[in-house]
Amino acid sequence: MNIKHFLDQTFTESLSSLAGSDTPGIVKQAQRVEFGHYQANGVMGAAKKIKTNPRELAQQLISTLDPETFTTEVAGPGFINVHLRTSFIASELNKLREDALLGVVPVEQTKIVVDYSAPNLAKEMHVGHLRSTTIGDAIVRILEFLGQDVIRANHVGDWGAQFGSLLAYMDRQSQKGESLSTELKDLEKFYQAASALFKSDEEFAKTARGYVVHLQNGDPKCLELWQQFIDESIRHSQEVYEKFDITLTRDDIRAESAYNDDLPIVIQELGEMQGLLVESEGAKCVFFDEFKGKDDKPLPAIIQKSDGGYPYMATDLAAARYRTRVLNADKVLYVVGGEQLLHLRQVFAVAGAAGYIQDNQEFRHLPFGMVLKADGSRFKTRDGADVKLIDVLDEAINRAFALVSEKNPSLAESERQEIAKVVGIGAVKYAELSKNRTTDYIFDWDTMLSFEGNTAPYLQYAYTRIRSIFRRASVEALEGEIELVEEVEIRLGLKILQFPEAIESTLEDYQANVLCNYLYELSGVFNTFYEQCPVLALDNPTSRLLICELTSRVLKQGLSLLGITTVEQM
Ligand code: ARG
Repeated sequence: MNIKHFLDQTFTESLSSLAGSDTPGIVKQAQRVEFGHYQANGVMGAAKKIKTNPRELAQQLISTLDPETFTTEVAGPGFINVHLRTSFIASELNKLREDALLGVVPVEQTKIVVDYSAPNLAKEMHVGHLRSTTIGDAIVRILEFLGQDVIRANHVGDWGAQFGSLLAYMDRQSQKGESLSTELKDLEKFYQAASALFKSDEEFAKTARGYVVHLQNGDPKCLELWQQFIDESIRHSQEVYEKFDITLTRDDIRAESAYNDDLPIVIQELGEMQGLLVESEGAKCVFFDEFKGKDDKPLPAIIQKSDGGYPYMATDLAAARYRTRVLNADKVLYVVGGEQLLHLRQVFAVAGAAGYIQDNQEFRHLPFGMVLKADGSRFKTRDGADVKLIDVLDEAINRAFALVSEKNPSLAESERQEIAKVVGIGAVKYAELSKNRTTDYIFDWDTMLSFEGNTAPYLQYAYTRIRSIFRRASVEALEGEIELVEEVEIRLGLKILQFPEAIESTLEDYQANVLCNYLYELSGVFNTFYEQCPVLALDNPTSRLLICELTSRVLKQGLSLLGITTVEQM
């Protein structure tokens, strides 16, 4: 059960019975002071409506409430302070033991497309893809946990001008007798060599431009080279996803090229919309008053370039159309960097005007900031190149291995390696997710791998602490009930019950840091409990063991929603 919803409902019902059914419920105004202590506002509005004294109305309302569940008191001009009773908290915890969803109530199922990761396949995945991939994957995991029908959309860039040089270079190397599969092992190098040639060698550049046109006209030889390149590149990105424990599979890829056949249809449909398409300098554009460029000049959304080519915008319109018309999405979330804000605003505006998005369908951009180095500069290698994502992940695992070996040298090497993967990958993801998504964040190895503070290792360690209690307790099945006595025990119980609220608030603005903070607080309360409340030393440890078990379940579940796993010891 979601405690906040329960309170909202109880108070609304009582208030409407006293002041009429259209009384603005306390619901939205019930504000949490701290968990377990709520403050209900709304009586004042109702009292005004039925012209009565608010404190009196509050008093009346209180008398209708179940005294077994909470204690209440009128405060100020007519607020109600609400405290959950310890016995109520304990009985809710006992119910939770049977609940696989840990109190979370599934929502009405809708179809949600989440557009995330989406690297351009001309290059290897780099650190710039960290955010979209991590945030997007956490969002899909949470939505699926709530029972939503989620479609992962990996809108990879596999089409466009940069493939001209790549194909020309592939062709040239294979004519030189080089083995392409060896050449493509390092996509980044391959891409750099091709673009260097494009800049320095006019003849090559001409061939490359020709290849783009051939490719777009469906020339079989070009398509074959292109396919070979794309396959290799997708293999690379899948390797990254696997290492990074990301749920995207090949089946989730719907690449830009998948929309090729839809592009002329988009043009036709936009053209048929009176006045939507305008020719400007040979290009087909849509102009809206709300989009202004420099000097207040109208800013076009270019749908087809003067040479007949289709830009990024066109593919995105076709994708929007596909998502609502073919996939029947109720909601589409774009986990895409803040620098594409204007682009996506234009896409949504044009798609809306074209009827691709209906009123009951929601399109939403979830932007994020950049990943920076400790000195605030952009995350690049010494020579200014993008840092490969796979290298970041390997370094995370290596660093975690060193830490684990230092902390626990007696563990077998294979075990330490297993833990290093979980800790290293968890640390990178958590560092990302625990920050407000819209701001830039500083990528710092020492902070993210620290066992202190709001980090993955801290949470993972709290989990292993609980598991170690169970190893020592060697109990089979726990029979009995939770009873709450000590203050910190009650606080821990309350925190556990707060899980559904944490999930709900996380989805309000798709901010994973809300869930991170919750898990951090939960671990903090647990650690205090662990220090203050003996468990195994008690004659009957059942109740405390049950509390420990629930805590570990919430921690493990919460972390798994963030895409982070746990180990039994570290
Ligand atoms: N491939 C694009 C890039 O790397 C991101 C695509 C995001 N999704 C979208 N539907 N535009 O910038």
